Amino acid sequence: MKAPFQFGSLAEKENFIDRYEDRALLKQLLMSGIHVMLISPRRWGKSSLVKAVADELMAEHKDVRVCFIDAFSISTENEFYRAFASRVMSCAASRFKKGLEEMRKFLTGAVPQLVIRDKVTEFVTFDVRFQPQEKDKLEILELPEKIAAAKGLRIIVCIDEFQQLANIPQYPDMEGKMRSVWQQQHHVSYCLYGSKRHMMTEIFNDSSKPFYRFGQVIWLKKIEEHYWVEFIVNAFERTGKHITTELAKRICDVTKCHSWYVQQLSFFIWNATDDEATDEIFDRALQRLIDTNAPMFQNDIESLTASQKAMLQAVNDGIYQFSSESTKRLYTMGNANTIARNKRILQDKDIIEQQGKTFEFVDPIFQLWLNQQFNP
Ligand SMILES: Nc1ncnc2c1ncn2[C@@H]1O[C@H](COP(=O)(O)OP(=O)(O)O)[C@@H](O)[C@H]1O
Ligand SMILES: [Mg+2]
Repeated sequence: MKAPFQFGSLAEKENFIDRYEDRALLKQLLMSGIHVMLISPRRWGKSSLVKAVADELMAEHKDVRVCFIDAFSISTENEFYRAFASRVMSCAASRFKKGLEEMRKFLTGAVPQLVIRDKVTEFVTFDVRFQPQEKDKLEILELPEKIAAAKGLRIIVCIDEFQQLANIPQYPDMEGKMRSVWQQQHHVSYCLYGSKRHMMTEIFNDSSKPFYRFGQVIWLKKIEEHYWVEFIVNAFERTGKHITTELAKRICDVTKCHSWYVQQLSFFIWNATDDEATDEIFDRALQRLIDTNAPMFQNDIESLTASQKAMLQAVNDGIYQFSSESTKRLYTMGNANTIARNKRILQDKDIIEQQGKTFEFVDPIFQLWLNQQFNP
């Protein structure tokens, strides 16, 4: 039987819930030529949302093409330009032989000869030996507009995990070029989304940076509990199993409605349930959820210093006045400067966030895991 819960791939079809307002807003902005910057912590549902919006737009408008670039796997400037051009050409090219010739016309100099058709994917792409020169870079950034205008299309360029590009040494140059070329385009909308909130904010909300006010910044929210509860209960019913509303609510409580964890925990419970989900099954599934994600958490804290870990311990104990005398005696968090710096670093890394006066963990399961590390 196919599991009614899924994680690791994008949420699609009956697995995709809610996000009605986000979908409508995103569609409207992108169709009006307003660029969108979509931000949330990892695994809340950005990629799924953009994919859903893209599918809807392409189904509703015959002249819309959407191309996707995943910046997560891009680590050099050349890779970026090659990927950008390849994706744009592939999404706009006519099928079969014609597409290749058609796309070559949009490039000048010796570059058209380097445009090829990938034997495996059949995509129009670049020979990997292509090293874009200065003039090629601008030409590549201009490609979507040229193609869209010539073919009567609206092209939507989606760049996932956009903040990763900022790690490329030449990023300041790329950023300036992107902004100056893209802002003059009329047939192209950009949807730039990413998980590192601090880095995304630096790129898009800093008045001294090229991408300041480039478009509409959207802070994606979590899916509300009642949508999840309905989804969980129905998914069990549909597959001949049962879960009470109360237990479904507990899934949402413990995961704080974090999309990935709701799906993953629901899956573990569903998988262990023959007929009716119980508290015992819930407890075992929760431990499994923590254990399954442990390597990622381990990885996250590996780079932290002892004083930063001490701060996490304090946050975990509900403490937020880090500099008080009693706190200093209990946790070795260092002097006032260290405390101030660590507070910033842990927030920049999206590990903790300020909520009014207090601090909370961004990732609820990370906190549970940490709790078990501190109190074995
Ligand atoms: N709208 C949704 N409905 C149901 N589940 C979702 C939804 N959006 C995300 N998810 C769940 O969360 C997981 C992570 O989503 P993803 O789109 O990859 O997040 P992000 O791109 O923000 O890291 C998905 O694999 C899916 O299990
Ligand atoms: Mg994603």
